[in-house]
Amino acid sequence: MKEDILKTLRAYFEMEKESGVEEYLLSPKKKDESLSLKEEVFSCHMCGLCKTRKNVVFGSGNLKARLMFVGEAPGFDEDVQGLPFVGKAGILLTKIIEAMGLKREDVYICNILKCRPPQNRNPLPDEIASCIGYLSRQIDYIKPRVICGLGKFASQTLLKTETPITRLRGTWHEYRTIKFMPTYHPAYLLRNPSDKKLVWQDMKKIMEIL
Ligand code: URA
Repeated sequence: MKEDILKTLRAYFEMEKESGVEEYLLSPKKKDESLSLKEEVFSCHMCGLCKTRKNVVFGSGNLKARLMFVGEAPGFDEDVQGLPFVGKAGILLTKIIEAMGLKREDVYICNILKCRPPQNRNPLPDEIASCIGYLSRQIDYIKPRVICGLGKFASQTLLKTETPITRLRGTWHEYRTIKFMPTYHPAYLLRNPSDKKLVWQDMKKIMEIL
């Protein structure tokens, strides 16, 4: 009887582990960490973008996600809604996620910058320096198995390299011991749809690991 209960419990936790739950008993802590970081970011005034933002775009998705997507910075729609990747590029990203057999709720999506740069200009070095610590802490508590860098900006920033995205994408890199796959940004794919097949190759590599 006791053995049976133990066997069932073991099978249950094995199943949880396989589906990405590594810290079952610690998840309330994860939630607390996420909430307190979120509060911190929501009241952030560390760079000039706090003056022009409508909303902070913290990130969204599963705190236990095995796969984390990191983009550049919120655009117009994201700034209005306070959510990452909800504009045209976001619709394409959602399609890519679904083609991988996942839902947006299964993964975690965020950006290097949490506030929109005016007119979607490129992030400035001081803005990155102010913001990068927040992303680093998000990665710490989510502990994804794989990070996918969406586009040149996210990939070059996290890998601390100036190698062009054309050369970075499609091969495995490491970000602080986490497997890192750079790929093209969905906004680039909207302008260059013929490169979608390359992104699909990259996603297949990610799916092999997951
Ligand atoms: N582009 C990004 O890099 N991030 C978003 O959230 C939306 C568009």
